[in-house]
Amino acid sequence: MPTHDDVDGFLTATLIGDDPILDAALAAQREAGLPAIEVSPVSAKLLHLLARISGARRVLEIGTLAGYSTIWLARALPDGGRVVTIEAEESNAAIARANLERAGVADRVDIRVGRGTDVLPTLAGEEPFDLVFVDADKESNPAYLDWAARLGRPGTVVVLDNVVRAGAVADPPPGDTKVAGARAGVVMLGEDPRFDATALQTLDRKGWDGLAIAILTDVVASGTHPDHMDGDRGH
Ligand code: DHB
Ligand code: MG
Repeated sequence: MPTHDDVDGFLTATLIGDDPILDAALAAQREAGLPAIEVSPVSAKLLHLLARISGARRVLEIGTLAGYSTIWLARALPDGGRVVTIEAEESNAAIARANLERAGVADRVDIRVGRGTDVLPTLAGEEPFDLVFVDADKESNPAYLDWAARLGRPGTVVVLDNVVRAGAVADPPPGDTKVAGARAGVVMLGEDPRFDATALQTLDRKGWDGLAIAILTDVVASGTHPDHMDGDRGH
């Protein structure tokens, strides 16, 4: 009887195959003792394809870790495209920098070190992002989604990792702040008119989890952020 790991292995080998650069990035991540919580290869490729399908030029990632998903996103960009990725830990950012250099994408990635809620306001004057990937501390998911809406434009793709947490999202254990944050993020995607969203459950090496995928609606164009109010963003 095949297991979900067998299927994940088959899908990964068949659809993605060997990639020494990505293997080296993960080896460096493991070597540095960082947790093995990067997105799975098939999920990383989903992010990559969403960026290409949407024609994204400017990508925002919240939660760099060692840059595995960052490499996948950077590889999806056209010439002149940019990934801005936010990492709270300088030691993680250092590993990510080396991984991005080795992957040959460092020139198109801007790593900002700091807490997401500190760094995100500094991005407010820039061009809107076309795709936002949220994969950092789960407690801040609602705040990160709010920033995704402020820093995007109608049509921006928003992806939120870890929305299932082994099923706990459907029956949150009291006191688990990560599950509470994950659930609050999903509830916000359902209720906040700035988003139109769905979610997919995943089963991979990390276990049972899921990804939410959303698009920003026209409501963001009439939001309260100053950059949206002056109507000069060209969208
Ligand atoms: C955790 C964080 C992640 O981003 C993930 O994909 C899996 C687990 C965690 O902090 O537990
Ligand atoms: Mg994650």
